[in-house]
Amino acid sequence: MGINIAIDGPSGAGKSTIAKAIAKKIQYVYVDTGALYRSIALFMIRNSVDVKDAEAVASNLEGLDVKLGYVDGSQRVILNGEDVSELIRTPEISMGASAVSAIPRVREFLFDLQQNIARENNILMDGRDIGTVVLPNADVKIFLTASAEKRAERRFKELQEKGDTSTYEEVLEDIIKRDYNDTHREIAPLKKADDAIEVDSSEMSLDEVVAHISGIITEKLDGEKKNKTQREMMPVNPIDKTAKLGFFRSLGYNFVRICVKLAFKIWYKIEFVGKENIPKKGGHIFASTHRSYADPVFLAIAGRTPLSFMAKEELFQGNKFFAWLIGWLGAFPVKRGKGDTEAIDRAIEELNKGRNLIIFPEGTRSKDGKVGKIKTGVALIGAVAQATIVPTAIIFEGKLKFRKKIILAFAPPVEPSELGVNSTSARELKILKNRISDDINNLVNENVNKL
Ligand code: DC
Repeated sequence: MGINIAIDGPSGAGKSTIAKAIAKKIQYVYVDTGALYRSIALFMIRNSVDVKDAEAVASNLEGLDVKLGYVDGSQRVILNGEDVSELIRTPEISMGASAVSAIPRVREFLFDLQQNIARENNILMDGRDIGTVVLPNADVKIFLTASAEKRAERRFKELQEKGDTSTYEEVLEDIIKRDYNDTHREIAPLKKADDAIEVDSSEMSLDEVVAHISGIITEKLDGEKKNKTQREMMPVNPIDKTAKLGFFRSLGYNFVRICVKLAFKIWYKIEFVGKENIPKKGGHIFASTHRSYADPVFLAIAGRTPLSFMAKEELFQGNKFFAWLIGWLGAFPVKRGKGDTEAIDRAIEELNKGRNLIIFPEGTRSKDGKVGKIKTGVALIGAVAQATIVPTAIIFEGKLKFRKKIILAFAPPVEPSELGVNSTSARELKILKNRISDDINNLVNENVNKL
């Protein structure tokens, strides 16, 4: 996977000039995604297809092959074998591109092409939906804007230099129309990603914007590198496997657990598979699929020792009773977007208290029951704490409702040291992560037909 930098923003904000200059400076491949939409518009216009007719455009995509090539580091767009890089830079094609870009089939058609380029290279990609849709995990996201008047002024000058006869008013009108189209379309509208840094270039010269954005990129990438090295050097800090929970806490917890278990067993049809794989003592990790908000409760009734689980910090900042309740149930806050170190320390602290830690390694809830990609976090915590990990699957069809059959399946516990995982090197974390991923997927595959 290359390093990905996304630059989004409205038409004429200078994205391509700026992105090109920065890419050259840092030796990244520059990908102008607007050119892809433009080449589709050119193809449709040449074949007399109405660019506003979604059906007609979609059915003509079959005869179209678009590729990006590079000559001396500069991007060329190849449409059915013809280099159309210059032909797509006319006002007519600009409006056509804006129209075809609102058609879902067009966006799907270009989606894989854009992602594949990003996967294989260090790239700087500019467009409208790069930070939000195409590369939501980009390492750096910039949202570049400028006032409509400034953008029209710049575009007008550019067109004049090319001998185009459009007036300033026409150019401004075009920009306003395209802004409207791009921000109001239903699919992937132009908007700033939550984690993008906004740069307004209205009052800056080209050199100033390039310097400013280069600075942001360097700072971000350096920060990431620092995080990565910190992670590689993270000391292994095994948990105390003999830790016991206080007698009264255990008693209280088990009383509540038995009541809740009874209620859940009446409400749902719960079946356990491999329950013997849950260690009797606390201090282990359930690496579990995530299907519903009730998942922590399902796991709580399966084991005997209290659980801990990470919950986003915001949940603790609202209603005080709710914050107390989830805290009592074992939730602890994690700052999203912060380094891993803090969450790992807290996780080890919880394991040391004899609690079982639930980690949902896919990171998000799965609505359809398919197992997503397992993230490295679970392996990192397992390796640092040298804790026993129980791969777990919560399996049911559709949504949770009365008398729904739910299978709670547990694989034999995994000991990091037995897999030769004694450090947080990337290689060892991958071994642990792959093992957890295989075990979880096997649990789901072996049990899903019992539903
Ligand atoms: O950046 P540009 O002006 O060359 O883009 C041409 C059109 O393509 C623009 O009106 C919006 C659309 N576009 C898009 O919808 N998504 C992208 N990632 C890039 C461009």
